[in-house]
Amino acid sequence: MIARAHLHPRQSPYRLLGNTRNVYVVAMTNQPTDTATGVLRTEHQLILAVAHSLAAKLAAEANGTALDYDDMARYVTFFRLFADACHHGKEEDMLFPALEAQGMPHDAGPIAVMLYEHDQGRALVRMMADSLDEARNGDPHANGDLRAGAAGFVDLIVAHIGKEDHVLFNMADEMLLGPDCRELCAQYDTTCGRQFEGQTKQDLERLANEILERH
Ligand SMILES: [Fe+2]
Repeated sequence: MIARAHLHPRQSPYRLLGNTRNVYVVAMTNQPTDTATGVLRTEHQLILAVAHSLAAKLAAEANGTALDYDDMARYVTFFRLFADACHHGKEEDMLFPALEAQGMPHDAGPIAVMLYEHDQGRALVRMMADSLDEARNGDPHANGDLRAGAAGFVDLIVAHIGKEDHVLFNMADEMLLGPDCRELCAQYDTTCGRQFEGQTKQDLERLANEILERH
């Protein structure tokens, strides 16, 4: 349960409640922060929690627990719409251009690596999505693809978020201050108020909550 260790109530707006059965209450992800990366770091916590729950599902399946394909569909939806459209969308359309305006290169260094990894993540989630129906129908090749996509995405996103949290975002917090920071947070608010294939950010947080409760 590594993910749950990330979610100490003092460190995250994702509050952990309950004694015998841990239940996440998802709230306040869109709080204004005084740094250029606060909202994104908070979203990372939820993405990590969901990724770790998927890793645990894969481990349980390897030990004989049947994979629940409805659960796998929930993971695909969360990774596509929250992790990619909502979260990576803000990084690619707002944070990275703001850093580039301060002189950070687009085609080399940390931004280039993060963009490459976002594309790798999209391909792995697409592999999950594309194999889900046939895997549900018992196709062994599709089952293999589903597991490979899921395991690959977990490994990728955990390492990727580590690089952002500990390297790129620390650089961003030093480079984007004052008006730059406030403008960025206003842009984040606009994106977080959008819908992603008809789902609000709050809908997707509820989906994450459902995933974590079922875990
Ligand atoms: Fe990120």
